[in-house]
Amino acid sequence: MQWSRIVSLCVGMGLVGAVGCGGGVDAEHSLPGNPVAGAAIYARICVACHAADGRGNGGLTGGNFSEPARLAKTNTLLLSEIRDGLNRGPIAMPSQRGALSDQEMKDALSYIRKTFGGTQN
Ligand code: HEC
Repeated sequence: MQWSRIVSLCVGMGLVGAVGCGGGVDAEHSLPGNPVAGAAIYARICVACHAADGRGNGGLTGGNFSEPARLAKTNTLLLSEIRDGLNRGPIAMPSQRGALSDQEMKDALSYIRKTFGGTQN
Protein backbone atom coordinates (compact mmCIF):
# COMPACT_ATOMS: atom_id res chain seq x y z
CA MET A 1 0.00 0.00 0.00
CA GLN A 2 2.64 2.45 1.08
CA TRP A 3 4.95 1.58 -1.81
CA SER A 4 2.23 1.80 -4.41
CA ARG A 5 1.22 5.23 -3.16
CA ILE A 6 4.81 6.44 -3.53
CA VAL A 7 5.04 4.93 -7.00
CA SER A 8 1.73 6.51 -8.05
CA LEU A 9 3.03 9.85 -6.87
CA CYS A 10 6.21 9.39 -8.91
CA VAL A 11 4.26 8.40 -12.01
CA GLY A 12 1.85 11.27 -11.53
CA MET A 13 4.68 13.74 -11.31
CA GLY A 14 6.45 12.24 -14.29
CA LEU A 15 9.45 11.48 -12.16
CA VAL A 16 9.78 7.75 -12.68
CA GLY A 17 13.41 7.07 -13.43
CA ALA A 18 14.54 10.38 -12.03
CA VAL A 19 17.09 10.26 -9.26
CA GLY A 20 15.50 9.59 -5.92
CA CYS A 21 12.13 8.60 -7.29
CA GLY A 22 12.47 5.55 -9.52
CA GLY A 23 15.65 4.27 -7.94
CA GLY A 24 15.10 2.07 -4.92
CA VAL A 25 11.38 2.73 -4.70
CA ASP A 26 10.05 0.10 -7.04
CA ALA A 27 12.01 -2.63 -8.81
CA GLU A 28 9.66 -2.31 -11.78
CA HIS A 29 10.75 1.28 -12.37
CA SER A 30 14.40 1.20 -11.30
CA LEU A 31 17.35 0.09 -13.41
CA PRO A 32 17.05 -3.63 -14.23
CA GLY A 33 20.63 -3.95 -15.52
CA ASN A 34 23.86 -2.13 -16.26
CA PRO A 35 23.40 1.26 -17.97
CA VAL A 36 27.06 1.46 -19.00
CA ALA A 37 26.85 -1.80 -20.95
CA GLY A 38 23.48 -0.59 -22.24
CA ALA A 39 24.99 2.59 -23.66
CA ALA A 40 27.03 0.56 -26.17
CA ILE A 41 23.96 -1.45 -27.18
CA TYR A 42 21.90 1.72 -27.58
CA ALA A 43 24.61 3.24 -29.76
CA ARG A 44 24.84 0.09 -31.89
CA ILE A 45 21.14 -0.68 -32.44
CA CYS A 46 18.58 1.65 -30.87
CA VAL A 47 20.00 5.08 -31.77
CA ALA A 48 19.12 4.65 -35.45
CA CYS A 49 15.43 5.01 -34.62
CA HIS A 50 15.27 6.46 -31.11
CA ALA A 51 18.01 9.07 -31.72
CA ALA A 52 20.73 10.24 -29.33
CA ASP A 53 18.25 12.43 -27.43
CA GLY A 54 15.75 9.57 -27.03
CA ARG A 55 12.99 11.47 -28.80
CA GLY A 56 12.95 9.33 -31.94
CA ASN A 57 12.97 12.39 -34.19
CA GLY A 58 9.70 13.56 -32.69
CA GLY A 59 8.43 9.98 -32.63
CA LEU A 60 8.69 9.67 -36.43
CA THR A 61 11.39 6.98 -36.43
CA GLY A 62 11.16 5.55 -32.93
CA GLY A 63 9.19 5.78 -29.74
CA ASN A 64 9.70 9.20 -28.12
CA PHE A 65 10.91 8.46 -24.57
CA SER A 66 9.99 11.97 -23.43
CA GLU A 67 6.31 11.03 -23.74
CA PRO A 68 5.36 10.29 -20.10
CA ALA A 69 3.28 7.20 -20.88
CA ARG A 70 6.23 5.32 -22.30
CA LEU A 71 8.74 5.01 -19.46
CA ALA A 72 5.97 5.02 -16.85
CA LYS A 73 5.36 1.40 -17.87
CA THR A 74 6.84 -1.41 -15.80
CA ASN A 75 10.18 -3.01 -16.60
CA THR A 76 8.34 -6.29 -17.19
CA LEU A 77 6.17 -4.74 -19.88
CA LEU A 78 8.94 -2.70 -21.53
CA LEU A 79 11.27 -5.71 -21.62
CA SER A 80 8.58 -7.83 -23.25
CA GLU A 81 8.02 -5.08 -25.83
CA ILE A 82 11.76 -4.91 -26.55
CA ARG A 83 11.89 -8.72 -26.81
CA ASP A 84 8.76 -9.18 -28.95
CA GLY A 85 8.48 -5.83 -30.72
CA LEU A 86 5.55 -3.41 -30.80
CA ASN A 87 3.39 -2.42 -33.73
CA ARG A 88 0.81 0.22 -32.87
CA GLY A 89 1.64 3.03 -35.24
CA PRO A 90 3.08 3.74 -38.67
CA ILE A 91 6.47 2.30 -37.75
CA ALA A 92 7.10 -0.82 -35.70
CA MET A 93 9.53 -1.40 -32.88
CA PRO A 94 11.41 -4.47 -34.16
CA SER A 95 11.72 -7.55 -31.98
CA GLN A 96 15.18 -7.86 -30.43
CA ARG A 97 14.79 -11.57 -29.75
CA GLY A 98 17.76 -13.24 -31.38
CA ALA A 99 19.69 -9.96 -31.58
CA LEU A 100 20.11 -9.44 -27.82
CA SER A 101 20.20 -11.68 -24.76
CA ASP A 102 17.77 -11.02 -21.89
CA GLN A 103 20.62 -9.40 -19.96
CA GLU A 104 21.49 -7.13 -22.89
CA MET A 105 17.83 -6.03 -23.13
CA LYS A 106 17.91 -5.18 -19.41
CA ASP A 107 21.13 -3.24 -19.92
CA ALA A 108 19.68 -1.28 -22.86
CA LEU A 109 16.52 -0.46 -20.87
CA SER A 110 18.72 0.65 -17.96
CA TYR A 111 20.54 3.10 -20.21
CA ILE A 112 17.20 4.42 -21.49
CA ARG A 113 15.78 4.84 -17.97
CA LYS A 114 18.94 6.45 -16.61
CA THR A 115 19.41 8.80 -19.56
CA PHE A 116 15.87 9.71 -20.62
CA GLY A 117 13.78 8.98 -17.53
CA GLY A 118 14.18 12.54 -16.27
CA THR A 119 12.90 14.05 -19.50
CA GLN A 120 9.31 12.91 -19.04
CA ASN A 121 7.64 16.08 -17.99
C1 HEC B 1 13.58 0.30 -36.59
C2 HEC B 1 13.46 1.33 -35.58
C3 HEC B 1 13.68 0.95 -34.12
C4 HEC B 1 14.80 0.37 -33.53
C5 HEC B 1 16.09 -0.07 -34.21
C6 HEC B 1 14.51 0.31 -32.11
N1 HEC B 1 13.26 0.80 -31.85
FE1 HEC B 1 12.35 0.89 -30.00
N2 HEC B 1 10.70 1.68 -30.86
C7 HEC B 1 10.55 1.95 -32.22
C8 HEC B 1 9.21 2.48 -32.44
C9 HEC B 1 8.64 2.92 -33.78
C10 HEC B 1 8.57 2.48 -31.18
C11 HEC B 1 7.14 2.93 -30.88
C12 HEC B 1 6.21 1.79 -31.18
C13 HEC B 1 4.79 2.08 -30.82
O1 HEC B 1 4.54 2.88 -29.91
O2 HEC B 1 3.92 1.46 -31.45
C14 HEC B 1 9.54 1.99 -30.22
C15 HEC B 1 9.30 1.87 -28.86
C16 HEC B 1 10.22 1.47 -27.93
C17 HEC B 1 10.00 1.45 -26.51
C18 HEC B 1 8.79 2.00 -25.78
C19 HEC B 1 7.64 1.09 -25.84
C20 HEC B 1 6.41 1.74 -25.25
O3 HEC B 1 5.69 1.01 -24.60
O4 HEC B 1 6.17 2.93 -25.42
C21 HEC B 1 11.14 0.97 -25.93
C22 HEC B 1 11.41 0.77 -24.44
C23 HEC B 1 12.07 0.69 -26.99
N3 HEC B 1 11.49 1.01 -28.20
C24 HEC B 1 13.33 0.22 -26.80
C25 HEC B 1 14.24 -0.03 -27.82
C26 HEC B 1 15.56 -0.56 -27.60
C27 HEC B 1 16.15 -0.91 -26.26
C28 HEC B 1 16.14 -0.66 -28.82
C29 HEC B 1 17.54 -1.15 -29.14
C30 HEC B 1 17.89 -2.45 -28.64
C31 HEC B 1 15.17 -0.21 -29.81
N4 HEC B 1 14.03 0.18 -29.16
C32 HEC B 1 15.39 -0.18 -31.17
C33 HEC B 1 11.49 1.79 -33.21
C34 HEC B 1 12.73 1.21 -33.04
